[in-house]
Amino acid sequence: MHYSTILIALAASVASAAPTGATTAAKDQELIQLWQDQKFLGLKFTGSGVVDKCFNLPGDFTNNVSSAKAKPGFRCTIWVKKDCKDTGFSFDEAGNKVLPDWIDNKSKSWKCNNA
Ligand SMILES: *[C@@H]1O[C@H](CO)[C@@H](O)[C@H](O)[C@H]1NC(C)=O
Ligand SMILES: *[C@@H]1O[C@H](CO)[C@@H](O)[C@H](O)[C@H]1NC(C)=O
Repeated sequence: MHYSTILIALAASVASAAPTGATTAAKDQELIQLWQDQKFLGLKFTGSGVVDKCFNLPGDFTNNVSSAKAKPGFRCTIWVKKDCKDTGFSFDEAGNKVLPDWIDNKSKSWKCNNA
């Protein structure tokens, strides 16, 4: 009798803790679109994640992005180095169909913030 009372109390505390954890966890959302060719053409990479967090590009897009757009509501930056270090180039949802020479085919990481 005493033992089952403890089990019920434990189960109740686990159940009440679960919804709190789910609401505080940041949800991944689509933030950025990058293309291998200029004018938003060629293979496209859609980056999902959370705002204000740096992501490194996958292999086939590392040093291989020539146009870029942020998803509506966001402003994104791509960097010439991994881990969003050194020089970055920023754009909004209108994007850039031609990236400046210094970052064309030279980006390795990205990060987005709320616009
Ligand atoms: C880089 O992009 C070009 C298109 O601009 C594509 O043909 C090539 O396969 C890409 N390289 C890699 C490693 O995916
Ligand atoms: C970037 O790569 C594309 C094709 O992969 C090429 O057409 C373009 O000239 C390159 N840009 C630079 C600045 O080298």
